[in-house]
Amino acid sequence: MRGLVSNLHIGKQVFCYDSVSSTNDIAHHLAKSGAQSGTIIVAEFQTAGRGRGAKKWIAQKGENLTTSVILRPTMPLENLAALPLLVALAIAQAIEEIARRQVEIKWPNDVLMQRKKVAGVLVETSAQAGTVDYIVVGIGLNVNQAQFPDDLADRATSLFLETGIRYDKSTLLVSLMRFLDAHYTRFAKGETESLLTTWRAYCKMLGKPITFFQGNLRREGIALDIDKRGFLRVEINQKEELLSQAEIQTVRY
Ligand code: BTN
Repeated sequence: MRGLVSNLHIGKQVFCYDSVSSTNDIAHHLAKSGAQSGTIIVAEFQTAGRGRGAKKWIAQKGENLTTSVILRPTMPLENLAALPLLVALAIAQAIEEIARRQVEIKWPNDVLMQRKKVAGVLVETSAQAGTVDYIVVGIGLNVNQAQFPDDLADRATSLFLETGIRYDKSTLLVSLMRFLDAHYTRFAKGETESLLTTWRAYCKMLGKPITFFQGNLRREGIALDIDKRGFLRVEINQKEELLSQAEIQTVRY
């Protein structure tokens, strides 16, 4: 993969596949076999792509970016919550750099164009006794897909559908991994504050009424802000609650 240069943490090793079950599955397998932090897995097609909350991630063969990155931060589990937000920020910035269009982030890590989802992030962590062993960051970015199934068409989009232009996936991947590398380097040093300030500028739902599902419970509140760990501060019946990504599936506003 030209352009992924070896002085970056992310991209020292890149594994490219034609078809896999899920790039996250391959990443777990490689990580368990000792693959180094920063290893990237890319596939043209996934037969069992996974989304958050046990949903499927379906992407047309050869048209989109489906990729995973193995990371090995040396930090306690409770410090990880901001990472998915920084991944979404990297995706948003890469889209802006390459497609020159405005992008929005919906907490915690959905990337939207014209209020439709263009990219999603699935972070899976392997930990022992409260310490991170490795993390798999899975990224699905809809690039050149021209049509979505009927049940997704009003919620999903691609760069092609938004701009009428077909994009080179490698160029996008390189841009994405460069932003991710820069953000991860600061995250690993505990320097996330200014990145989260940048993240806030992309998040249009802050300050607005939201509906969300906590388990099967539908709740309503006002999205106030994120805290320094990336939790969402919500006002519900004049009281403030902190929502973690793990407990919340769908947020609408
Ligand atoms: C979501 O928004 O629900 C998260 C979607 C994440 C999809 C990506 S595609 C590459 C990686 N492999 C998977 O099986 N899932 C992630």
